[in-house]
Amino acid sequence: MLFTTSLLLAAATLTSADTFQTRSSKRGLVFVPSAKHPTDNQIWVSGNSDLSWYYTYNLSPSAAYSNRTQAEFEFVPMLWSPSTTFLSSVQSLISGGRNISHILTYNEPDGTSSTGGSDVDPKTAASNWISQVQPLKKMGVKLGAPAVTGSPGGFTWLADFFDACASQGTNCTADFIPIHWYGNFAGLASHIGQVRATYPNTSIWVTEYALNNASLSETQDFFNMSAEYFDRIDYIERYSYFGSFRSDVSNVGPNAAMLTQNGLLTDIGSWYLGGAATNNIPSSESAAAATRAAVFGTVLVGVVAAGFMVL
Ligand SMILES: *[C@@H]1O[C@H](CO)[C@@H](O)[C@H](O)[C@H]1NC(C)=O
Ligand SMILES: *[C@@H]1O[C@H](CO)[C@@H](O)[C@H](O)[C@H]1NC(C)=O
Ligand SMILES: *[C@@H]1O[C@H](CO)[C@@H](O)[C@H](O)[C@H]1NC(C)=O
Ligand SMILES: *[C@@H]1O[C@H](CO)[C@@H](O)[C@H](O)[C@H]1NC(C)=O
Ligand SMILES: *[C@@H]1O[C@H](CO)[C@@H](O)[C@H](O)[C@H]1NC(C)=O
Ligand SMILES: *[C@@H]1O[C@H](CO)[C@@H](O)[C@H](O)[C@H]1NC(C)=O
Repeated sequence: MLFTTSLLLAAATLTSADTFQTRSSKRGLVFVPSAKHPTDNQIWVSGNSDLSWYYTYNLSPSAAYSNRTQAEFEFVPMLWSPSTTFLSSVQSLISGGRNISHILTYNEPDGTSSTGGSDVDPKTAASNWISQVQPLKKMGVKLGAPAVTGSPGGFTWLADFFDACASQGTNCTADFIPIHWYGNFAGLASHIGQVRATYPNTSIWVTEYALNNASLSETQDFFNMSAEYFDRIDYIERYSYFGSFRSDVSNVGPNAAMLTQNGLLTDIGSWYLGGAATNNIPSSESAAAATRAAVFGTVLVGVVAAGFMVL
């Protein structure tokens, strides 16, 4: 995304084992900011990062990216749970000169707060959507359906939501269906197939996904298979991997994280940004608990990371 022609030429002349994935304009950031290590927040936009868009689960862009224009790093506002200020907030972002072209709505409304869900009933969500979301359609903004969980209950919730809109006299017209998935690739592909069968004419964004709590090699295989799949399928418009945090604070297991406990890109983290493997192994132990061996590993890793920055 941020590659210039000369950088591409420079990369093309490399004869090392460094390989790059096909660059993807679909790829974005589920931003999980680090208050403890604010420099981590810049990793996702540094060097030649592929990431072209981000969301914060919130209606405001992040201060961490205030020096990035919307064209450079597209902010996608989210209405996390019913609110009466969403419409005016998006309108003021737009009137302030920010080209808001897409929005996301209701984070896991079929899930409880203990698992990060907004726990909203479909009727309440529908009436709030009618006042705060549907008017954006006329302004040319593309609307994301409520981002339900990947559980069977998600389908029921979403169907009830669209029914509740209709019974309140409005068609809630979603332009894309966001998907959340934690599990293996077969399950992910099957889930996407089921969503596609249910909403055949609506494109899909995969706005949270990972293989949680698995071995490093399984997790890497899952990552590569899913990225290849998302890049290949036209109706999958965008995707954002759940892993923009250090392995020691990961709630989806250390191997899914894109940063090690020391804040260095893991292989998955580097691949996601469009770079080469780093051979940095994530651990569930904090950096403070680092052993002599981990320190030695960091030195080696620093060399590889510097190579990535040069590219
Ligand atoms: C994953 O994809 C990257 C980039 O294409 C490649 O370098 C790496 O070998 C792949 N890893 C696995 C485990 O398939
Ligand atoms: C943007 O701001 C961050 C700090 O908020 C800084 O680390 C980064 O270098 C800045 N990037 C550019 C391109 O100015
Ligand atoms: C606004 O953003 C959309 C999506 O990125 C893009 O297609 C469109 O050209 C942009 N409009 C302006 C006026 O920049
Ligand atoms: C909603 O959409 C359906 C199907 O496109 C249409 O038949 C119906 O009249 C619409 N209802 C409203 C209230 O616009
Ligand atoms: C999807 O689009 C096709 C072709 O435009 C149309 O025939 C079909 O009725 C649509 N299906 C739904 C569920 O809207
Ligand atoms: C997955 O890993 C996280 C963090 O390491 C842990 O809190 C959670 O209990 C694990 N879940 C399962 C199902 O093993």
